[in-house]
Amino acid sequence: MISAEKIPNNVNLSGNKRLQRALEHWQPKYIQWWRDMGPQGFQDYHQVYVRTAISVDPEGWAHFEYVKLPEYRWGIFLADPTHDRRIGFGDFFGQPVWQEVPGEFRNQLRRLIVTQGDTEPASVEQQRMLGHRCPSLYDLRNLFQVNVEEGRHLWAMVYLLHSYFGRDGRDEAEELLERQSGNRDKPRILEAFNEPIDNWLDFFMFTMFTDRDGKSQLMSLSESSLDPLARTTRFMLTEEAHHMFVGETGIARILERTCQLMKEAGFSGDVRRMGGIDIPMIQKHLNQWFSLSLDLHGSEVSSNAASYFANGLKGRAKEDTYDDHVVKNAYYNMEFFEQGRPVTKDVLLRNAMNEVLRDWYVGDCAAGVVRWNRILEAHGMSDRLNLPDRKFNRNIGMYAGFKFDPNGVPISQEEWDRRKYEWLPSTKDGEYLLSIMAEPIYEPGKFANYIAPPRRGINQHPIDFEYVRTEQ
Ligand SMILES: [Fe+2]
Ligand SMILES: [Fe+2]
Repeated sequence: MISAEKIPNNVNLSGNKRLQRALEHWQPKYIQWWRDMGPQGFQDYHQVYVRTAISVDPEGWAHFEYVKLPEYRWGIFLADPTHDRRIGFGDFFGQPVWQEVPGEFRNQLRRLIVTQGDTEPASVEQQRMLGHRCPSLYDLRNLFQVNVEEGRHLWAMVYLLHSYFGRDGRDEAEELLERQSGNRDKPRILEAFNEPIDNWLDFFMFTMFTDRDGKSQLMSLSESSLDPLARTTRFMLTEEAHHMFVGETGIARILERTCQLMKEAGFSGDVRRMGGIDIPMIQKHLNQWFSLSLDLHGSEVSSNAASYFANGLKGRAKEDTYDDHVVKNAYYNMEFFEQGRPVTKDVLLRNAMNEVLRDWYVGDCAAGVVRWNRILEAHGMSDRLNLPDRKFNRNIGMYAGFKFDPNGVPISQEEWDRRKYEWLPSTKDGEYLLSIMAEPIYEPGKFANYIAPPRRGINQHPIDFEYVRTEQ
């Protein structure tokens, strides 16, 4: 089952000695990065019950075992090739897909791969302290599962860089280990990946909203004419789904517990007095991570996005569900903000590709919020969570530089300054969250007071299974 090679793979790595040597040269640097920047305090004395991809078929994909984190078998897996796959969109629609990088698109493709690759180690860095504040062993294990898979996603991008981009690609692979989340001199490329994630409410919101941006991007890259990129990202999507599961169910379990505490408090709403997380606090964190993740989709009108589409590098999510894959003369009706008020205008659809992907993303997020609200409803609560308007708290695109409230109503800078912390987490909120997470819970089957247990355990194990073992 598990290949005996140093780097598990389904790309016949041993058949390409040069590439194999290059990756084996990069591997120890990666492990060193993992030790330095991966989960702090969980490198040497803990066995974690994780799922390791050892092949792309459903059985190989769900292989579970206890491993020490630095010994996780990070491998390279591409989804199976599609017979006679054709380019699905853009100016080269209908032509055979590429197995090599065309010279004229080399820079653009490298940029796309590096930008995607950079987010993967970044999130591991952002989350490295969370193990010391975990609400349960079950959650601790899920955190590490997400972390090792983000590490594998880095491997996926580094494989492409090494395979198809020569010297430049190898240099980029080195730099992916050198930039650091939140580092002033060498930050990660995208802003949301430089924000610290030091409490579990942030972690769950991040995996709900920012990993879902990952899903957006991977879906559009899985349409790419560069077949190895399409196949790599297609397999990454299966792992990404689990990350969003962790986020969505994490918040669902907090909501469940919050409702219980509200009832115990006689609906006084004073959940904090009982050590829980109140709904306004949850809403603020939702606002924060949703708006940061909207920014990750880029400017509303973008000639880069148009060119990625025209060249067949980055398609729309589920491109095959559209009728027109060339969209040369199609228009998209978009809202602009001019002289203090919204106006709608038609822009060339190709220039609006970021916004098209953002539309898909907003819809996917909204469906998740509906599922959360069912919990509140089932408990007879009148409170509801809401996605803020997409103009709220934006730092990229046409709304950056203006201020809007969560309903999308334009407000003055003065009002924003005065009311900002009604809508976004404050330092005080952060301190409160850290205070209830100060004591990690490492006892099997026990859960922190602010979160309900999950419905079921992992891989049919009970909830009180020892998902992380500590060696004495
Ligand atoms: Fe990822
Ligand atoms: Fe992810």
